[in-house]
Amino acid sequence: MAEINTMAAIEVIPSGDALGAEVRGVDFARPVPDEVRDRIVQIWAEHLVLLFRGLSLDDDQLLATAGLFGGQQAAKSRDFFIQAGVKPGDNDRVATRPGISIISNVDSQGKAGVAAEADRSLSLKWHSDNSYVEVPPTGSLLHAHVVPVNGGGETSFSNQYLAYENLPDDLKAEIEGKHCVHDDHRNTSAKLRPTKQPPKSRHDITGPKHPLVRVHPVTGKRALYLGRHYEWPSSYIVELCDEDSEALLARLWDAATRDAFNWTHDDWRAGDLLMWDNRCTMHARSPVDHSQARVMHRTLIKGDPVISAWEKAGAVAE
Ligand SMILES: [Fe+2]
Repeated sequence: MAEINTMAAIEVIPSGDALGAEVRGVDFARPVPDEVRDRIVQIWAEHLVLLFRGLSLDDDQLLATAGLFGGQQAAKSRDFFIQAGVKPGDNDRVATRPGISIISNVDSQGKAGVAAEADRSLSLKWHSDNSYVEVPPTGSLLHAHVVPVNGGGETSFSNQYLAYENLPDDLKAEIEGKHCVHDDHRNTSAKLRPTKQPPKSRHDITGPKHPLVRVHPVTGKRALYLGRHYEWPSSYIVELCDEDSEALLARLWDAATRDAFNWTHDDWRAGDLLMWDNRCTMHARSPVDHSQARVMHRTLIKGDPVISAWEKAGAVAE
């Protein structure tokens, strides 16, 4: 067996696109020395999204992997279901362990294709995980248990450093000092969350206020940071009226998801683990053929408070 979890064993294969790299020679099911962990943090800072293949991690090992990079935090979406009366272990949406989200389109017998479950196969809009909480997770770990065969569910990532750096100067100037309220009413397939009512004006929008540009604590670089945006009323820019907010957000969303800034993981295999940085990337998912099973287990890496580009002394403008 090849050496594993040593400095010499680590191999990095960049995707060749604007972000993303496969990392070989690492198995999180085995002990990871500090120097190897630190090297992975470096590689992560450079490539933003890391792909590890051929792993077989149970939920405890997935949570322990989050522990290597700062700890875990429970997904806020879990709270919405619990508020609606769902108990831990009742269904996939509220797994027994608070730190685990099961992202699955199969029924309790493990079968795909049940009409009532088809909404779990919808496409997911561009977003940064849990940006609608005050302290969003640093990163996410998504581990494939069952994947569809040519059945969609590809995950695309967008580099938000590049999105910010490539904004035209007038747009950079226009967003300076501005903040966005990140709408928590709908999930990423645009369905209202349990217990939430459709908002009628911006006053009904709940969610934290975050700067439109954040500073990455490891790289010191600026990244665009947008909240999930649905039909009005939804996430809005605090300092602008409704009409101006919508117009500016439309321009920013166009800039944020250009193909040139993206990489798509389009050949998911069982055993893949993707580790992405929510501070400087967004991601989206293509729809899944709901007749094909797809089962992923995810955990969130505990976050630190968002560093605002407007408040951090000495932050470098890019
Ligand atoms: Fe997500």
